[in-house]
Amino acid sequence: MWSGGLLLTIAALRVSTAYLPTSSAHDVRPTDHGDELLAVRWQRLFLPVPEHIPEPRKRETERILGLYEREAHKYDREMRVCEKLLFGGGREWACSRAEGDVLEIAVGTGRNLPYYSHGVRLTGVELSPAMLEIARRRARELGRDADLRVGDAQALDFPDDRFDSVVCTLSLCTIPDDRAAVSEVRRVLRPGGRFLLLEHVRSPVLPVRVVERLLEPLMLRFEGDHLLREPLDHLRAEGFDVERDERSKLGLVERVAARKP
Ligand SMILES: C[S@@+](CC[C@H](N)C(=O)[O-])C[C@H]1O[C@@H](n2cnc3c(N)ncnc32)[C@H](O)[C@@H]1O
Repeated sequence: MWSGGLLLTIAALRVSTAYLPTSSAHDVRPTDHGDELLAVRWQRLFLPVPEHIPEPRKRETERILGLYEREAHKYDREMRVCEKLLFGGGREWACSRAEGDVLEIAVGTGRNLPYYSHGVRLTGVELSPAMLEIARRRARELGRDADLRVGDAQALDFPDDRFDSVVCTLSLCTIPDDRAAVSEVRRVLRPGGRFLLLEHVRSPVLPVRVVERLLEPLMLRFEGDHLLREPLDHLRAEGFDVERDERSKLGLVERVAARKP
């Protein structure tokens, strides 16, 4: 049950800081959230999206962009706490398995950069320019050569079979169309290439899942964060061979290594 309490604490911390005054170098504002949330709920019920909701994925992507543009300056501070409590060792686990030409999707502020081996040729895409700016600064400070660029993980601007490994940490929970992102990962991976994933997911432990369900509307509203996703379903549907699947923290945290056949 402590994981449920932990989740509650983290959610309270993150939601409360969403109200702190912020400044951003980028003039991106979240749009009205009503339509987006309605659209997402319709989608999650597997019902056809009503016509009066225009381009729900595009609008939700815009909303997430706005959230992270405002979040960027405090992201590292908040994430340090979450990493200590929930994700310890996860970044090392994923990045140390990446080899050759590596793509990291939704690279954020580049918190994984220290964990890649110097032999890899690293490319990172990220929706938010403000997050990316911090990642670029981090890469410079680490002396890490990496091609870090703005991009949408749901529609990657790379040819098929381009990468040996793709890494994604704590982002499939935020990318509006996570199935599309997994499908794009498969497309840009070479046959035999690996997808390495660290994620918080829907817990199989009922009391924890109840807490997740209660918190999800808040987390979605203020953080764009889905708590009840199951990325493994998408990986299987996209035909990945799942080599390793490790769950911890009462099933809240998942590490996956999967191969494109
Ligand atoms: C919770 S943060 C995780 C950042 C980083 N991966 C990490 O492990 O710290 C989620 C990130 O996903 C990015 N993101 C959300 N939707 C995206 C999309 N469609 N394409 C690229 N990045 C996206 C957000 O801008 C944000 O930086």
